[in-house]
Amino acid sequence: MIHRDTILLQTEFPGKDKAISTAAAAIRDGELVAFPTETVYGLGANVYDEAAVLRIFEAKGRPADNPLIVHVASIEQASELVMELPESFHVLAEKYLPGPLTLVMKRNAAVLDCVTAGLETVAVRMPDHAVALQLIKDAGVPIAAPSANISGIASPVTAAQAYNDLNGKVYAVLDGGPSSVGIESTVLDLSSDEAMLLRPGMISKEELEATLGKTVNVADDQDAKPRSPGMKYVHYAPTVPLVLFLAQVDLRTKLVAEIGLYLEKGKKVALIGPDSFEDLGAASFYSFGSGSAVEYARHLYSALRYFSAEDIDILLCPGIEETGPGLAVMNRLRKASSRIIGP
Ligand code: TXA
Ligand code: MG
Repeated sequence: MIHRDTILLQTEFPGKDKAISTAAAAIRDGELVAFPTETVYGLGANVYDEAAVLRIFEAKGRPADNPLIVHVASIEQASELVMELPESFHVLAEKYLPGPLTLVMKRNAAVLDCVTAGLETVAVRMPDHAVALQLIKDAGVPIAAPSANISGIASPVTAAQAYNDLNGKVYAVLDGGPSSVGIESTVLDLSSDEAMLLRPGMISKEELEATLGKTVNVADDQDAKPRSPGMKYVHYAPTVPLVLFLAQVDLRTKLVAEIGLYLEKGKKVALIGPDSFEDLGAASFYSFGSGSAVEYARHLYSALRYFSAEDIDILLCPGIEETGPGLAVMNRLRKASSRIIGP
């Protein structure tokens, strides 16, 4: 379905309820709507409408074997989708939901194959965003939604970024302001007895282990970045090549030297990183504020979208420690980078 003009629905007072009910009606009618969450913007459809769900894959250019997350507004709605809610779900829900945590459980017959890519499990998430929760409630159905980007590039964290990617491909973009977290939810598989981290996020492995009182295993492909430069597995790709420096003692010195090398070759270098790195001599700088993992996450995707190949030849980024939420930030940075410089 081609929509020549995607509608941008603002949710500022006093038009908020009207904007959300318009978006909800569109979802019920089988349309696609991009909507805000606290992590990143989602590209939503009625989970029970097969034609609409299939159009999500088409709009994003997403392979059909990559399952979608189902967004719910209540625990009761989550229970509509699964065989049963395991005890570990309740323990985690009590502490983190609504919030940036997606839980994978055994699905029931109500869930369409196209949503789960034929898997016996379904990923369920309750976003911590008032506009998203009201949208799901008004729609009256759970909303299947991947991130609202074109496949391969950074997820959108503002309505403008979602609009940029999806104009002409969706009925509407619902604007709920910038996403506060900035990277996608933690994905945890609860479908077997051992809890398995499928994607790191701001709710960290360590935190989940403390809450569950047991070890959380990490899926293998987690931080594995294919070594081949073949660009076969493209994720979060900026339009300018990104060089990532892993956390190391002489990070500043190494960055200054690297910037110097590019300058000698007449290349325009941009640096993305904490304020304390602003003075290293790069032609352009994008701030990650204090440089905490929370600030890195909040600014990362906008930074990756900010620079264009017309203005900048190379992007450099200092990495952070890969523990707690730092693991999630570094997971995205590793996947976005074309070169990684270790200690
Ligand atoms: O923060 C988020 O999770 C955002 C917002 C919009 O909620 N959504 C998001 O969706 O990041 P997406 O489609 O970009 O990423 C979903 C991830 C994929 O890695 C997918 O393979 C995995 O979740 N996933 C979905 N269903 C699954 C399942 N049944 N089993 C294992 N992994 C699943
Ligand atoms: Mg995505």
